[in-house]
Amino acid sequence: MAQVLEIADLKKLAQRRVPKMFFDYADSGSWTEGTYHANESDFQKIKFRQRVAVDMTDRSLASQMVGQDVSMPVAIAPTGLTGMQRADGEILAAQACEEAGVPFTLSTMSVCSIEAVAEKTTKPFWFQLYVMRDKDFAGRLIDRAKAAGCSALVLTLDLQILGQRHKDLRNGLSTPPKFTPHHIWQMATRPGWCLGMLGTKNRTFGNIVGHAQGVEDLSSLSSWTAEQFDPKLSWDDIAWIKERWGGKLILKGILDPEDAKMSLKTGADAIIVSNHGGRQLDGAISSIEALPEIVEAVGDKVEIHMDGGIRSGQDVLKAVALGAKGTYIGRPFLYGLGAMGKKGVTKSLEIIRNEMDITMALCGKRDIKDVDQSILKRY
Ligand code: GLV
Repeated sequence: MAQVLEIADLKKLAQRRVPKMFFDYADSGSWTEGTYHANESDFQKIKFRQRVAVDMTDRSLASQMVGQDVSMPVAIAPTGLTGMQRADGEILAAQACEEAGVPFTLSTMSVCSIEAVAEKTTKPFWFQLYVMRDKDFAGRLIDRAKAAGCSALVLTLDLQILGQRHKDLRNGLSTPPKFTPHHIWQMATRPGWCLGMLGTKNRTFGNIVGHAQGVEDLSSLSSWTAEQFDPKLSWDDIAWIKERWGGKLILKGILDPEDAKMSLKTGADAIIVSNHGGRQLDGAISSIEALPEIVEAVGDKVEIHMDGGIRSGQDVLKAVALGAKGTYIGRPFLYGLGAMGKKGVTKSLEIIRNEMDITMALCGKRDIKDVDQSILKRY
C-alpha cells in the first residue's frame, strides 16, 4: 500500500474505496463551494514564527475541552452518514478516539445509533443534536444521550434548513442507497465496502428510523430535513434543551460576533466557531477568519472552539494560537475511515498530533497551554 504521510493521502485512498455518492457527500460544500474551499485556503495565509536554540524536550499537547481531559485539543466533529463511509463507521471512529484520548461526537444523523455506539465503547462520547419540529422526539434524543452516558451535548444552530449541495443532488444520494443501475455500479466497483455493509445491520439513520413517529425510510436527506427540522429554532429554545440535558452544553455554528454575544445569555459551556464545513451558507467567511473577532468579542467569557478546514496539525496550532481552546476534524477522519476503517481514523489523529507537536517545537514552545498569538507572524 502507498505510504500514508498526510491527510491528503487518506483522501486519495478513500476516494478509491468508498462509493462515489458517499465520498462526495463528505467532500462537498453548498453551491459554488467557495466557503468550503476558503476554510482550507485561509489557513495557508497564516504564517508561523520560527524560533531557534530553545529547549524542545518534554513537550505536551494535553489540555482540556469543557473541563474534560484531552490528549490534544482536537475532537472528532459530528458528521452525518459516517456509517456509510465504512460499515459501522461511527463505532470504529468512537473506538479510535477513546484509544487516542480525544472526544468523539456522534451526529443525530449517524447510521449507528447512540445505543449501538455506547454498547461498543467504554468511555463517554459526545452527542450532537439537531432540533426537530417534533420536540418530543428531540427531547427523547437528549434522554437517550444521557442514558448512554454521553458527557457533552453539541447543539447545532446553523442547519434549520439544508444548504444545497450540487453533488448530492446529481448523485441522487440516499440512505440506504437506491438500487438503480447507476447506484449499483457505484457500489459494485467498491467490493470491500459492499462486503462490510453485508456484515452489519447498521444501514440507515439509526437514531431516527424506528424512533421518530412515521419515519420508516429516510431516502432523501434534503426532503427529510425540510419536513422534520425546526425552522423556528430560536435562542429561547436553548433554555429547555439545557434544562433537559443538565450537562455540558456546546453551541455549534456561531460565525458572527453578534451571535457569539447572544450565546453568552444561554449559559452554554462553549461555542464552536463554524460554518458547517462550508455546507450551509456559501459566501460566508471561513471559520479561521471568523475566529479572531469572536475571540475578541467573547473570548474572556466563554470557551471557544472552532471547526472547518483543518487538514493538518499545523492548522490546529494556528487555531489554538488565535484563541481556540479546542478544534474539530470532520473530513480528515472521514477520509481515514473510508480508507482504512478504524486504523485509518487512528492514522488521521496520529498525523495531526505529530504535525502539531513538531510545529509547536519549531515555534519554540513545549506546552500547548503556552501557545498564543506570539507564535504567529503579524498578529
Ligand atoms: C448534515 O449534517 C450535513 O451537513 O450534511
